[in-house]
Amino acid sequence: MRQVTVTEHVLLHQTKSPSASGKFTALLYDLILAAKIIQREVNKAGLLDILGATGETNVQGEQVQKLDDFANRTLIHRLQRTGVLCAMASEENADLILVPEKFRRGDYILIFDPLDGSTNIDVNINVGTIFSILKRKSSSEEDVTMADVLQRGAEQVAAGYFLYGSSTMLVYTSGEGVHGFTLDPSVGEFLLSHPDIRIPERGKVYSVNEAYYHYWDTRTRKVVDYFKSPENERGAPYSLRYVGSLVADFHRNLLNGGIFMYPMDQRSPSRPQGKLRLMCEASPLAFLVEQAGGKAIDGSRRILDILPEHLHERVPLFIGSPRDVDTVTRIYSQTD
Ligand code: AHG
Ligand code: MN
Ligand code: MN
Ligand code: MN
Repeated sequence: MRQVTVTEHVLLHQTKSPSASGKFTALLYDLILAAKIIQREVNKAGLLDILGATGETNVQGEQVQKLDDFANRTLIHRLQRTGVLCAMASEENADLILVPEKFRRGDYILIFDPLDGSTNIDVNINVGTIFSILKRKSSSEEDVTMADVLQRGAEQVAAGYFLYGSSTMLVYTSGEGVHGFTLDPSVGEFLLSHPDIRIPERGKVYSVNEAYYHYWDTRTRKVVDYFKSPENERGAPYSLRYVGSLVADFHRNLLNGGIFMYPMDQRSPSRPQGKLRLMCEASPLAFLVEQAGGKAIDGSRRILDILPEHLHERVPLFIGSPRDVDTVTRIYSQTD
């Protein structure tokens, strides 16, 4: 395949808002630089003092891994200096991160999960970085407020993820299809490898942590029982594939078809809506999957229609092949 770089691809394909393409390219460039720095640490993690926990607990109530912290600091440092952002929000930071006056501020807002799949870092299983880009609503003269940030997923300007695995990939959308790039380490460039990704109508895989079966409500148990039943629409059980890194499970299902589910569960009263975060996980992946012909719901609502009430809001997530997500909608609506 002819070598197409990200810069060239954005220039050729970002036809909707050509004026933004320069800013968007600058933003992607700094995201890519941050990802290369993170990938370098991920690839050497076993050789450096970068495994294990920092001993801190984040706003999510999770043990912060050293690589969570490294990735977070790398992204904040790099993206503050891109001249395109006015604010950022990270899974690892309780509050909004405002871009300081001294850096030329722009009108875009970046929301990110710096390191997704943290429990897999020390055991050399794929991890990723997820990002979402919004445009501020208020005028540039005013200070950024939470009202600028708490926007429906449908308002996203762009979204994507980096997947640090056997190869390092960037998958992104700016509203004109989903495109995958693979890092060629010999030249340090992400080159187009998966143009116009389309998710299969229906898959053969379901991804869910079945350990929580006894904490799910009846309708959720019916959904999971359906996918593993020989009597389902396919006439054969779906295979269970669950990596424990959302980005890895999502990426496999995006390419091959299937459904990823993180339903609400009664394990902890403090998070009845399940574990995944709306703004830095569900929304960006929902934008991607819809651009690839798939669907993403919380059980009844389209993820991209949900108006966040706070930055770290959690949401149940059913995302993937449209026919499989429709099955969830059907069973959920039939079960009271
Ligand atoms: P993060 O590492 O960013 O906190 O996200 C972890 C998430 C997601 O990557 C994965 O699908 C899910 O946690 C796994 O949760 P369980 O261990 O409860 O199945
Ligand atoms: Mn986490
Ligand atoms: Mn995550
Ligand atoms: Mn994370």
